[in-house]
Amino acid sequence: MSRLYSRIVGTGRCVPEKILTNADLEKMVDTTDEWIRTRTGIHQRHIAGPHETTSSLALGAARQAMQAAGVSASDIDFVVVGTTTPDLVFPNVATQVSAALGIEDRPAFSLETACSSFMYSLSIADKFVRCGEAQCALVIGADTLSRIVDWSDRNTCVLFADGAGAVILKPSSEPGILTTHISADGQYKDLLYFPMGVSSGWDRLRAGDAAAIQMRGNEVFKVAVKTLSALAEQTLEKAGLSKQDLDWLVPHQANLRIIDAVARKLDLPMEKVVVTIQDFGNTSSAAVPMALDVAIRDGRMRPGQLALLEAFGGGFTWGSALVRL
Ligand code: UT7
Repeated sequence: MSRLYSRIVGTGRCVPEKILTNADLEKMVDTTDEWIRTRTGIHQRHIAGPHETTSSLALGAARQAMQAAGVSASDIDFVVVGTTTPDLVFPNVATQVSAALGIEDRPAFSLETACSSFMYSLSIADKFVRCGEAQCALVIGADTLSRIVDWSDRNTCVLFADGAGAVILKPSSEPGILTTHISADGQYKDLLYFPMGVSSGWDRLRAGDAAAIQMRGNEVFKVAVKTLSALAEQTLEKAGLSKQDLDWLVPHQANLRIIDAVARKLDLPMEKVVVTIQDFGNTSSAAVPMALDVAIRDGRMRPGQLALLEAFGGGFTWGSALVRL
């Protein structure tokens, strides 16, 4: 078979059991359901319980995607998990998922570029499949940002949530992933970051200092709209296509107003945009694969249609994929 493309042949998602509504948040911080809905588009989100982790959610999404694709663990020869909230510093989340599925002696690694981690993972897996190094790749975006949010900070705790989304990629002579684009600009570090890590700040964490996501939301908002709009144009141009060719936009789910603004810049009516933020909040690297799974499973997205997937996150980092379904 001529191996020109990688193709998404199955999708899945998994969210924690517990739902946290805006009404619940009204009891925790100085906020209102009205403010959250109108400023972000979020109505509710899922929050991981003590026994749910990034790897357990990733595993749930992987199992669904494998079932949808009709593949078993022995078929999978490449596993990558995009995440910023691994269960452990090491071993990486992909090895934990592989072990739970019974995948042996195959590459398994995690990749960390904040909310765009899935887009980076997809871009890399696409290259491995296209060049023949992988025949069946499992690509997951999974995060539990609720673990690193300050639950008394109304600027962030109403936004972030937990979940996982997964896709299976296989080689195909028919068009699948047409192109991907990944990029970053480290000069924006201070607008969105987590202040402690392993080789820096570990001593303060051990001493009991609390650490949480720091975000200058308003400034992030402006760069996100500009970057995601330009990214969409660049990705289409790279594939020799135009915005009129798009059937679907599957954007990062950070804020409905960001999604609206990007859709307007692309002249895309909202009927062509997959929006799931109302149900899930911002699930970081899980947001795009979860939205893709929702729209495929509810029958909105059909084989042969053209979808643009894109995400933006801390760093800043961003990534996209133009996909023939
Ligand atoms: O996924 C990674 C990328 N992340 C993003 O893209 C996030 C981008 N940013 C955003 O989504 C928005 O900037 C936010 C939703 C975070 C904030 O919305 P905003 O319209 O930019 O609000 P703001 O930060 O300018 O704050 C406006 C007001 C402030 O009050 P004052 O100073 O005007 O009195 C805030 O203190 O809203 C206040 N505020 C809240 N009020 C009620 C901030 N958070 C809340 C809240 N409830 N939860």
